[in-house]
Amino acid sequence: MNIISSKIFIDGGEPEETREANQIFLKKLGRTLDGQTTNPTLIAKNLGIKKQEARIKNEKITQEEAIEEYKRIVQEMSRTIPKGSVSIQVFANKETKAVEMLEQARTRNKWIPNASIKFPCTLEGLKAASIACLEMDINITLVFSQSQAAAVYEATVNAKYPIFISPFVGRLDDKGENGMEVVKNMLDMYNPPAGGGDGHVEVLTASVRNIEHIMYALYLKSDIITIPFKIFKLWADQNFPQPGGNYVYNPNELKTIAYREEIVLGKDWMEYDLNHELTAKGVDNFYLDWMGLFS
Ligand code: E4P
Repeated sequence: MNIISSKIFIDGGEPEETREANQIFLKKLGRTLDGQTTNPTLIAKNLGIKKQEARIKNEKITQEEAIEEYKRIVQEMSRTIPKGSVSIQVFANKETKAVEMLEQARTRNKWIPNASIKFPCTLEGLKAASIACLEMDINITLVFSQSQAAAVYEATVNAKYPIFISPFVGRLDDKGENGMEVVKNMLDMYNPPAGGGDGHVEVLTASVRNIEHIMYALYLKSDIITIPFKIFKLWADQNFPQPGGNYVYNPNELKTIAYREEIVLGKDWMEYDLNHELTAKGVDNFYLDWMGLFS
């Protein structure tokens, strides 16, 4: 039997993909998927058809209808993997305050019993997350640096529920930097012997673009890997290959993101540098993609 050490999630906005991936997993490995991640862009893509249908009738879909659809979509996903975790994102732009994100989080957390609420890795996002982690499962999204990972760890140090952190490897690769190194750096910082973490944050490798990302994430023992259906199918077609003990990841021409010894756990979370251009861009784009449904 092929034992996969990391938890495997599907990354998408289409419940049919969740069903199909789950069936493939069951058939080939005798186990169910461990979870699902969604985001506003993926949900908006799914709802694009609804927007077109409305347009034909000279109508527009409303925010309320779209949110109801988001709820329906995650409820379907949740029914497929009731024992898994399903991430639901709060909607935020750069002006959205923590209190508003928290309010959304509390509502969305009631949509399904196995929700994990996603907050962006921004100052307001982490303010909200530091309170939400006492009430519900959470997932910090749009993470691109070791110092953001230190802030996430400290902001959630008193958490009473599972905490995921989502480094977006593909988006770093897209700009010529070795995204998988951020996964390695945060695992090194969190885990003994090098790091001094207590294990309360699970590293969820996200923005996966290819099988090599999966292989290296497995090799590094990323707690979770979320995989778009298309890449999941490629991996399944090859019968879920896994890295051997002497596996070496080939970053090709990608620029190294070195481990920073000076970033250590143990400070107040607001003392760590949260800025990253891709976090800011990611927040903007999630918001624009969602709002695009109503134009
Ligand atoms: C994870 O939760 C995100 O939905 C996702 O992995 C984003 O990936 P992308 O960079 O392909 O948009």
